[in-house]
Amino acid sequence: MREAVLGALRTVNDPELHRDLVSLGMIERIDVDGGSVTVKVNLTTPACPMKATIERDVREAVMTVPGAESVSVEFGAQVRVTGTPAMPGVKHVLLIGSGKGGVGKSSVAVNIACALANSGAAVGLLDADVYGPSVAHMLGQSEAKLVGNAERKMLPIQAHGVRFISMANLSPAGQALIWRGPMLHSAIKQFLSDAAWGELDYLIVDLPPGTGDVQLSITQSVQVTGAVIVTTPQDVALIDAARAIDMFRKANVPLLGVVENMSYFVAPDTGAVYDIFGRGGSRKLGSHQLLGEVPLDTEVRRDADAGTPAVIAHPDNPAARALIQIAENLAGRVSVQTLSELPMAQLA
Ligand SMILES: Nc1ncnc2c1ncn2[C@@H]1O[C@H](COP(=O)(O)OP(=O)(O)O)[C@@H](O)[C@H]1O
Ligand SMILES: [Mg+2]
Repeated sequence: MREAVLGALRTVNDPELHRDLVSLGMIERIDVDGGSVTVKVNLTTPACPMKATIERDVREAVMTVPGAESVSVEFGAQVRVTGTPAMPGVKHVLLIGSGKGGVGKSSVAVNIACALANSGAAVGLLDADVYGPSVAHMLGQSEAKLVGNAERKMLPIQAHGVRFISMANLSPAGQALIWRGPMLHSAIKQFLSDAAWGELDYLIVDLPPGTGDVQLSITQSVQVTGAVIVTTPQDVALIDAARAIDMFRKANVPLLGVVENMSYFVAPDTGAVYDIFGRGGSRKLGSHQLLGEVPLDTEVRRDADAGTPAVIAHPDNPAARALIQIAENLAGRVSVQTLSELPMAQLA
């Protein structure tokens, strides 16, 4: 019966990759015990947004096999990478950018990082917003100091399952060590490659707003899987977001999607919905790009200031749920981009 089960699984496509689970190498194990079948599926990310669909499809396919009476589906996950990884031990570098400041880029970056880590992925977060570092504060670690390990590599600080490095945590001594060169470029390169990140599935980078030197430095220093643009929905923010998207296109960095933050507001007392900045405006950037909409929510702001991101502190809050879904959608797009037949854009 094992062969028949395998045959049935060849008819099940991954909903995003549009190829069958067997040829994608996602079937790790099939156990048959009388009429009961156990299938272990190895997902391409622990934050897989399609897990429920895959489980249902596997169950339905196996139940068509003569003699199959019950099916149990188990999941494992391994983030895939094609070719050489971004850096030794780091599978994917994901940039979070914006056109304007204050649109919630850091909030989105921190919540995505925590949501991915919470799903079981190994996640790093680099605060590359050297002009306004806020990652340490949002992770409740503004007092922590960065130190080096025995090999004089900077050790990321741990918080909520995420390893992060932020300028805000540099002691004066550390500052001298890091800012050896007069240029921002060498500092960014050191943050990326002279830090002891260890094994990471995703290294999230919170960029400064706009289209400046830091963005260029990063795209020139390391192979980037793709970028996410955070914007609010009103025109004045979208104009700058379009400019940021254009910059990534020129640098051959694939756009993984757009997050519409502060999309709308639900009044907690009446439940009335207010489109403060014009909900849905980010669709002007291409509706297929949208990773999700995050409402304005007092708890998101309060949790960020208290140092425990909303996806951890209040995972059932609607804004937190939107952020968790966005993290999963992003992980799904990274898998699609990695496993699709198209060659990955090579950076100059
Ligand atoms: N969806 C949201 N709801 C409520 N407050 C938010 C939301 N997103 C961000 N904020 C708050 O807005 C301010 C700016 O966000 P921040 O992430 O620092 O923006 P940026 O990194 O783009 O400058 C912060 O005080 C943050 O807590
Ligand atoms: Mg910021």
